[in-house]
Amino acid sequence: MKKLTLLLTAATLLMAACAKPQPQEFHVIPLPASVELSDGSFCVKGAAVQVDPALDVLSQKAVGRFIQALETATGAKTKAGDSGIRFVQNPNLAAEQYSIEVSAKGVDVEASALNGFVYACETLKQMLPPAIYGSKAVKADWVLPYASILDQPRFSYRGMHLDPCRHFFTLEETKRYLDVMTAYKLNRFHWHLTEDQGWRMEVKKYPRLTEVGAWRNGTVIKKDWDSNDGIRYGGFYTQEEMKEIVAYAAERGITVIPEIDLPGHMVAALAAYPELGCTGGPYEVWTRWGVSEQILCAGNEKIYTFLEDVFTELMDIFPSEYIHIGGDECFPHDKDIPWEHCPKCAALMKKLGIKKGPDAKHYLQNYVTARVQKFLNDHGRKIIGWDEILDGELAEGATVMSWRGTKGGIKAAGMGFDVVMTPTDYAYFDYYQSRERDKEPFGIGGYLPLEKVYGYEPFDGMTPGTEDHILGVQANLWTEYIATPEHLEYMLLPRMCALSEIQWCAADAKDYDRFCASLDHTFGMLDAMGVNYSLDYRGLMGMDRQPARSAEELEEYLNNNKVSW
Ligand code: ACM
Ligand code: ZN
Repeated sequence: MKKLTLLLTAATLLMAACAKPQPQEFHVIPLPASVELSDGSFCVKGAAVQVDPALDVLSQKAVGRFIQALETATGAKTKAGDSGIRFVQNPNLAAEQYSIEVSAKGVDVEASALNGFVYACETLKQMLPPAIYGSKAVKADWVLPYASILDQPRFSYRGMHLDPCRHFFTLEETKRYLDVMTAYKLNRFHWHLTEDQGWRMEVKKYPRLTEVGAWRNGTVIKKDWDSNDGIRYGGFYTQEEMKEIVAYAAERGITVIPEIDLPGHMVAALAAYPELGCTGGPYEVWTRWGVSEQILCAGNEKIYTFLEDVFTELMDIFPSEYIHIGGDECFPHDKDIPWEHCPKCAALMKKLGIKKGPDAKHYLQNYVTARVQKFLNDHGRKIIGWDEILDGELAEGATVMSWRGTKGGIKAAGMGFDVVMTPTDYAYFDYYQSRERDKEPFGIGGYLPLEKVYGYEPFDGMTPGTEDHILGVQANLWTEYIATPEHLEYMLLPRMCALSEIQWCAADAKDYDRFCASLDHTFGMLDAMGVNYSLDYRGLMGMDRQPARSAEELEEYLNNNKVSW
């Protein structure tokens, strides 16, 4: 009898403990700059919400999305009033800064501008059960822990790139990509809109760019370069659709940086307008991957008219101050370079006083870059380009995107250029995540596990005093072998979560074990969003995430795959 009483008492105590809502453990990614947690929690289910009328329209919309998510996930309407969650304009905070105070008095959220409010809302969402990211009502402990948070990013440029040219992604898929970026507080979407294998931007003055250039007659199968799957493939975005993406991103504090890759990676445009190439063609939209030697003819005045027309329409769609002008891989090492045989290019080199020699092509590329730069500068825009634009003599005012390792970025910063770091070694998310390639979806190559991404420190190797030129960090997602949104997300996540901590957190605030301990929560969020991710870092390979090995094998696998650099 005594034993039963004891058992009942224990059960009652347990029920009482369970009945008290428990806040989530603090698993916010990227970790906020300053967080103090204390005992106690505030219930947000059906809470009163007050929004300062001083908030601008987009900030009000961001707060509105948060309230909508809260109502959907909790299944309870919020009400107007000042006893719950209060969103207040605080002009003393920087544009991307925000503060959150949770106490018995409620939740006070302060920011000065859209980005601060977006990030405050994302932090609040990550402090709540993952179902807040879903689309159905869920029974859960809808409480926030008492907390005092003051947060701001380390870098102003926090980018993620997407290549919709090798494989096309719809507006809805692109918006999901932006949603995921928003959850991890990224603020630049680098949209690579043109390639050898497909031109994706509608240009009204040059309809053949999309009539012809947006479509290829099949796609190479894996790395069998002579093969072709025989399936016509393509697509493009209308100007209205691109504006829709710009607006969707802008509401989430994300600037879309469009890229027109020039003068190389232009085969699709040449197929549409062969007179823009040195040989006059004929050209075909490329069906295989690699680097083509067929590029715009620098000596033909028509290309400058063409580019100015394209950029004129582009500037109408994209308000971003930065326009990406590409500049990479114009001169494949293993091929004859048309610029070196073209009479028009030779005449221009002579006129410019460019001497024959191995560097002549770089100086000619500098001329093309400078012409485009001047045009864009005259229209109030700035250029950013892959680090090849630094070869030869780059004009002042350009920003360099360092992708061939960090060397280009370090050199550019030393010369006084602003830089975005996106080195292949740490930031190419098309690379494999595991060494066991046969268990992974087929990929382009490389090996970039989560831990290596996380370990990247953008100031490493820099000349002291030049660090201020590093605007930030970006990762790139090229899609030669990525044809579906599921695969895209698998390659993106959770590596983009690691990227977000490089972009947001102070170097000494990063901690891989703490980060990994937060991943279960993040996977819950992604599950609620219906977004795919990889579990490779836990030894689970492949899109179906079947356990590839026993617990002992996993231990051995993880030990053998520890990354050092
Ligand atoms: C690049 O990966 N070709 C910039
Ligand atoms: Zn030429």
